Amino acid sequence: MEYKAFVVSEDDSGSYLGGIKTLNIQDLPAGDVLIKVECSSLNFKDALSFSGNKGVTRKFPHTPGIDAAGEVVSCATDDFKAGQKVLVVGYDLGMNTSGGFGEYISVPAKWVMPMPVAMSAHQSMAWGTAGFTAALCIDKLLMAGAKKEQGPVLVSGASGGVGSIAIMLLVKLGFEVHALTSKTADKEYFKQLGVSEIVSRAEFLKSSAKPMLKPIYGSAIDVAGGDVLATMLKMIKPGGSVACCGLVASIELQTTVLPFILRGINLLGVDSVELPLNVKQDMWLKMASDWSLPALLDQCQLIAKQQLADTLQSMLNGNIKGRYVLDHNLAG
Ligand SMILES: NC(=O)c1ccc[n+]([C@@H]2O[C@H](COP(=O)([O-])OP(=O)(O)OC[C@H]3O[C@@H](n4cnc5c(N)ncnc54)[C@H](OP(=O)(O)O)[C@@H]3O)[C@@H](O)[C@H]2O)c1
Repeated sequence: MEYKAFVVSEDDSGSYLGGIKTLNIQDLPAGDVLIKVECSSLNFKDALSFSGNKGVTRKFPHTPGIDAAGEVVSCATDDFKAGQKVLVVGYDLGMNTSGGFGEYISVPAKWVMPMPVAMSAHQSMAWGTAGFTAALCIDKLLMAGAKKEQGPVLVSGASGGVGSIAIMLLVKLGFEVHALTSKTADKEYFKQLGVSEIVSRAEFLKSSAKPMLKPIYGSAIDVAGGDVLATMLKMIKPGGSVACCGLVASIELQTTVLPFILRGINLLGVDSVELPLNVKQDMWLKMASDWSLPALLDQCQLIAKQQLADTLQSMLNGNIKGRYVLDHNLAG
């Protein structure tokens, strides 16, 4: 059976191009579960795969899409029934395994979770990998003792997927949130998210030369790495924590031990990809219940396959706001 997929290929000049191709289900990798994908969310890692980044995807042509929500077509194990609504988030999906930007995926049963009953495919992908990661960051901060009385939480990449959902969830949980962003003119957008203060990324980075800075924030969530993370560490109040999950600025981190030994702060690493499935499932159930964000779907733009290339390019340029979800049923 044939299906459509957004496929990234390398041309003769070594450039990478994305386009819609007709593929055959028989060419999908052998997997336990064949899933008809309804939606897949756009994540920075998909943009890296689209750009030909070999750290994400080794071999091209390739179909990105690191998460997917859809319906089981067939399952070779007893785990799932045909017609069951399911989610796949992380592991190798969309990296070197054909991902959710295709209308079908074929994956191991141990990657697949039942869709939480309180969530639709659209709602689940409005969260997507970015929202799941935001929830994991907040969970880690809370486990490390973060409390609203300790002061505002600073969130970097505030207009992006992880950042915008982290802000919404922190606000729901009663935290004061400051948004670290390049898009300081978008006041109305950040007001709608519930942000108390907008911090210009350019101004923030000017303060970075000193070994320590005035402690302002109770905790922080960082998607950038590099100087952004290094500067954040100098501004956390004693005993506070920073959840580190991203690398949009740099994979480097040049810091000193001073924030750790003078203020006792914690640097908490967050990986959403290789967590055991039961841990993922527990967090998705929390996102569908106590941590649900009814307004999230309104903040999210549904796009067709034909819009993927432009949207992924905007993502690489740091120009997008909020969440984008590919809906395979939308005509371009
Ligand atoms: N650890 C994990 O498991 C995990 C899971 C998901 C995502 N991630 C990582 O988290 C990061 C964010 O992902 P995302 O999906 O939220 O991406 P995104 O939607 O593209 O958002 C990234 C945002 O970062 C800001 N930004 C862009 N370039 C920057 C730079 N040079 N310096 C500082 N900030 C910059 C921009 O926001 P402003 O204009 O508002 O500053 C941009 O919108 C990525 O590195 C991704 O790989 C990790």
